[in-house]
Amino acid sequence: MRQLIAGNWKMHGLTAEAAAIATPLLDAGALTRDLLVCPPATQIAAVVRILAGSPVAVGGQDCHTETHGAHTGDISAAMLRDAGARFVILGHSERRQNHGESDALVRAKTLAAVAAGLTPIVCVGETDAERQAGRESSVVGGQLTGSLPDGFAGVVAYEPVWAIGTGRTATEADVAAMHLFIRQELVRRFGAAGEETLILYGGSVRPSNAASLLAVPHVGGALVGGASLKAEDFLGIARA
Ligand code: 13P
Repeated sequence: MRQLIAGNWKMHGLTAEAAAIATPLLDAGALTRDLLVCPPATQIAAVVRILAGSPVAVGGQDCHTETHGAHTGDISAAMLRDAGARFVILGHSERRQNHGESDALVRAKTLAAVAAGLTPIVCVGETDAERQAGRESSVVGGQLTGSLPDGFAGVVAYEPVWAIGTGRTATEADVAAMHLFIRQELVRRFGAAGEETLILYGGSVRPSNAASLLAVPHVGGALVGGASLKAEDFLGIARA
């Protein structure tokens, strides 16, 4: 299974910046890993046009549970798909925290994404306080149980909240333990399909630490925030 290097641009990327990040990806050459960029919704169609004909996929950062309707400001999975997206990030900790997204809501969004033909990337991860209290496995286990619908076919991203945007990366031992735990949970619930699920690691991934993180067993790739805003760094991670 090829690893996936996904860039989450978060709320970054005016037109010129989006083009500056995406255009160099056209010259990436042959890579052993798959690439995905998730620009803000306003730039998805433009980035899809820039990357047309290249193997780099484009995704959204969130979607609504419904296909359409009276939901001012929201964007449906079908709209993302229509704009050319193939993936969507769901349940990112910033949405769980800033928008009060529950596991049940993330599960409903995941079903909507699949129905629209998108591959969901469902994010889980504990806070610093939860890890200090030794609760990281129970927190992540609960998020998996609540956020993943039956028959889940998508990607899981483990992003410890304390490692996001902090420069504080989880140790290889912590990543190994959590990714093994997530794998066991996926296999327990989904059987053989759970063996194949890509489990991305996210949280301060850089070109300098990518090789060691990507070599950890059950790490199926990376979900990259800050370092995905520079094509050179993003490609550095993809080539690590
Ligand atoms: P950073 O790579 O900036 O720590 O962000 C990680 C993240 O939240 C990706 O979704």
